[in-house]
Amino acid sequence: MSFTPAKWPRRLRSQEWYGGNSRDTIYHRGWLKNQGYPHDLFDGRPIIGILNTWSDLTPCNGHLRELAEKVKAGVWEAGGFPVEVPVFSASENTFRPSAMMFRNLAALAIEETIRGQPMDGAVLLVGCDKTTPSLMMAAASCDIPSIVVTGGPMLNGWFRGERIGSGTHLWKFSEAVKAGEMTQDEFLEAEQSMSRSSGTCNTMGTASTMASMAEALGMALSGNAAIPAVDSRRRVMAQMSGRRIVQMVKDDLKPSDILTKQAFENAIRTNGAIGGSTNAVVHLLALAGRVGVDVTLDDWDRLGRGVPTIVNLMPSGQYLMEEFFYAGGLPVVLKHLAEAGMLHRDALTVSGATIWDEVREVVNWNEDVIRPAARALTPEGGIAVLRGNLAPNGAVLKPSAASPHLLTHRGRAVVFEDIDDYKAKIEDEALDIDETCVMVLKNCGPRGYPGMAEVGNMGL
Ligand code: FES
Repeated sequence: MSFTPAKWPRRLRSQEWYGGNSRDTIYHRGWLKNQGYPHDLFDGRPIIGILNTWSDLTPCNGHLRELAEKVKAGVWEAGGFPVEVPVFSASENTFRPSAMMFRNLAALAIEETIRGQPMDGAVLLVGCDKTTPSLMMAAASCDIPSIVVTGGPMLNGWFRGERIGSGTHLWKFSEAVKAGEMTQDEFLEAEQSMSRSSGTCNTMGTASTMASMAEALGMALSGNAAIPAVDSRRRVMAQMSGRRIVQMVKDDLKPSDILTKQAFENAIRTNGAIGGSTNAVVHLLALAGRVGVDVTLDDWDRLGRGVPTIVNLMPSGQYLMEEFFYAGGLPVVLKHLAEAGMLHRDALTVSGATIWDEVREVVNWNEDVIRPAARALTPEGGIAVLRGNLAPNGAVLKPSAASPHLLTHRGRAVVFEDIDDYKAKIEDEALDIDETCVMVLKNCGPRGYPGMAEVGNMGL
């Protein structure tokens, strides 16, 4: 049986492996056929890599294999050829000493996974904190058409009639136990109530922030960030993204077309409006570097000024991602920013439309969850950049989550060598410390990993 290649309008990258009838092609094609693919699928159609950060030990992404099936369905429907590829997955809640230390390693590993293999486009299946930036960084470096699909947040936690958020309440309850205001048994009961479904942290922590950043940058379809993991619309989003990536390959719409200076400025302002994580600073600076866009710490300071935090979510506010979705999600925030003159409306998104075209018709269904600027949580919500002798290269602060009475404070410094030293001493009654002291880690990153505290890694 002879092989007639390429119905596709132009020869794609994957044809270097599968196009023609050379000995090498037959070697590559023949091996893939051991999975039962019919010969006519090798007709030059785009191979779409579904880069999956699923892992049993990244429970936040534990449902991504199901979502991958929906992505595949979309890719097949649109005339592509999906291949699911497991990639480095660093979970925030299990990886020691800190998932942050492995973001760059993950990005490098995934970059080579894309570069060394026959993919014409990539769907980035991500969720937990570091998985989203590491895959975006890898895709940006390779600059093949790519689209982000996040796994979505968990449903609300509920405990004794109260909403409880991932992280936020863990710290709160653990302090309550220490203070004798809560029993250990109650704490265990709360544990069962905290993580009720598949998905990422349900507060505006790093995972929700980075999902929002991907959407604000234009790297995900509109509305992606807030759909709960278990909502059927999350699966629809996955399938639609599978369809869309095939067209993106056809149009040769690449990360470098989307990740422009304008897109980063939109994301920085969005981070202020949602009360997003300080970790976004570290990740967006790294991503900008991958595409050669000049973004600095000073841009965060400059652009964040005057952006009110309007999303009333923990840890800054009172609700969780589920309510954010019901209120309309990130598109409502982007519309608010655009109407306030704080969004570059012409920034391109993976849909092929501008960001303004994606959000101009949306409605805010709950003005207590997404507030009008006049009732903002914090009038100046953008990340504040601090400099001084403790952090000569700069540190960042999230004003919406800061205690106002501590914004100006003078106190005695209690210095710990590193996080291990802190953990060993902090519960010691003999430690000379009181509530007015400022705690400083000399080597501020996990296990003394240098430099990370300079950009505020410890923030939610
Ligand atoms: Fe994985 Fe929060 S720990 S999303």
